[in-house]
Formats: sequence, structure tokens, C-alpha cells
Amino acid sequence: DGVVRIALIGCGTVGSQVVRLLTEHGEDWAARSGAQLELVGIAVRDAAAERDPWVPRELLTEDVSGLIERTDVVVELIGGIEPARTLVLEALRGGRTVVTGNKALLAAHGPEVHAAVESGDADLYYEAAVAGAIPVVYGLRESLAGDNVVTVAGIVNGTTNYILDEMTMRGLSFDDALAQAQQLGYAEADPSSDIDGHDAAAKAAILASLAFHTRVGIDDVPVTGIRDVTVEDVTQARENGYVMKLLAVARRTPRRGRPAGIAVRVHPALVPETHPLAAVHGPFNAVVVEAESAGRLMFYGQGAGGVPTASAVLSDIVAAAGHAIRGGHAPRESTYAQLPLLGPEAT
Ligand code: HSE
Repeated sequence: DGVVRIALIGCGTVGSQVVRLLTEHGEDWAARSGAQLELVGIAVRDAAAERDPWVPRELLTEDVSGLIERTDVVVELIGGIEPARTLVLEALRGGRTVVTGNKALLAAHGPEVHAAVESGDADLYYEAAVAGAIPVVYGLRESLAGDNVVTVAGIVNGTTNYILDEMTMRGLSFDDALAQAQQLGYAEADPSSDIDGHDAAAKAAILASLAFHTRVGIDDVPVTGIRDVTVEDVTQARENGYVMKLLAVARRTPRRGRPAGIAVRVHPALVPETHPLAAVHGPFNAVVVEAESAGRLMFYGQGAGGVPTASAVLSDIVAAAGHAIRGGHAPRESTYAQLPLLGPEAT
């Protein structure tokens, strides 16, 4: 009948914007995907809670499993491991397409999630899991499928970039800058995962897995966050021509022209102020990719916030709906390259 039935799980900062964009621009998405997109329900913890005015109350439900049963595409935007893990696995094993923004789940349970994709002959999309609106998952998974990546390095956490920026540019204290980032909707529910670098580490693990056709988990990524960075540190760096940035770096180290291994790491770094990453301000993210044939590429844009991140979710929904109607699949991720993980000194 040309209808693709969508379930949304979670209606927070990003989920609510997904509802708005689905409703306001339904005709565009239909024309592009060839499918009629029908949002059949929105699973939330508390159906009585206050919502943005555009969220149709009649679609809210607390019965998430019942909702998944009735749909083709499950959009998971609750974040965290459980219950997201159970719901995503259930949907995939049942052959449903899953769109998720859940970096924590993918970084901690990547092998299990991808095994469920295989067993259900399902599709998984997760553009929103890394760097918000920036199409870096697509870039690595599809655009660079005909190349070999050597390095991925970037600013992938908007909250810490915003904090470091406010400290550097305005002399704000760490706490005041964090409070602003929270108010603007950039920070995670538990902002310590931003500040201590775990959010960036999850994204680094996902990017390294894609870039190097292997599985890197969050526990494989040595992390140093920005908790101990002071206004004096950033000011002094600036006086010496550097900008302090929290960087995620994943590198394939060549030996005799062949890959010897990969190293992944998240840490505060002094970036020369002439480097393109030094010009990445506020909640913006940027990922620099070096590939053998393409050379250096830079992906830049808004890495956090409800509306930009909803853009990434919508692109996945349109792709998923197109495949649901016309056939075809999201790319299967190859993990043929069993590269050993090297220690942080190799980054
Ligand atoms: N807390 C994250 C950030 C949100 O600040 O970048 C996007 O993943």
C-alpha cells in the first residue's frame, strides 16, 4: 500500500524535533522516498508528561513492545544501554529496520547489535549517533567504501567544545560554561559523560569501526576528559598560539606498507591556531579523515542539539523508507580487517 509505519521510541530533545519534521514536511519525505511515512506511535516513559505542542498526544504510548509489533521502522532515541538494547535487538531480530542515535549502545554492544542485523536480515542506520547533523557515518560507510582510511581525527563532542570555547573566548568558568551548554540542549542527560570524554570515546569507537572495517568498543578507547582543564591552561595555550580541544583520534599504523594495527584515543590536545580544527567553535563538530586515495577530507557542522540531530535521523528514515518500498538494504558492514588494537602511544 506504499505506507511505511514508523515507531518512535523516546520523545526528548531530538525525538520531539523528529516528530515536528515528520509532520511538517511529510510530503517532501514521501516524494523523496516513494513511501507514505506514517508515524504510528511514540513510546515514552510517562504519557501524561508535558510535551512540545506539535506532539500528537493520541500517538503517545507507554507500551513500547506493543508499538514495535505494529511497525516497519523503529526509531530509537532514548539513549543509554537498557532498555534500548533489548528493544533494538528485539526489533532487528524481528526483521525490522532500526534507526538509532544511540552511540552508547553501538559502542558498548556493537558486535551483538550487528549480529542481530544479520540474523534478522534487517537494516540498521545510525547517522545521528555520531556528530549530530554531520554525515560522517554515511561518509565512512558509503562515500569512502572505495578507499582505505588512514586517520580519523576530530572534535566530536559539542558540549566540551562549547565549554572550552567559552573559557577561552570569554574567560567563563568551567561550571558556568557547562550550565549554558546544558541549557542549550547540547549536554547528555548525565553531563559527566561529556566532560570525562566517554561520549567522545563512544563516537571514536564507532568511527574507528567504520573506518577500519573492524569492531572497536568503547572499552578499547583510552580516555582523558576536560575536567581538570582550567581557564589558566586555555589562556596560556592561546598566548602561545594554540587552542585547547578535546580530540578523538583513530589511526591505522602502517608497517612495511601494510597495516600493523589501529590506535584510538580521546584526549585534550593543543591544536595550533592555524589548524582547521582550531576554528571549530561552540557546539560545532569537525572530523578530518585521511584516506589513501581521497587524501584529506573534512566534515564540519552542528554536532549537537535537537534540530540538527533530527536532520540526521530524518535522513535515515527517508533512506529506510525508500528501501522498505523499493527493496534493497543499508550497506552491510564488513569487519574483515582483524587489526590489532595498539596502545595510546601509537596515536
Ligand atoms: N552531548 C553530545 C555533545 C550530544 O555534546 O556533543 C551529541 O552527541
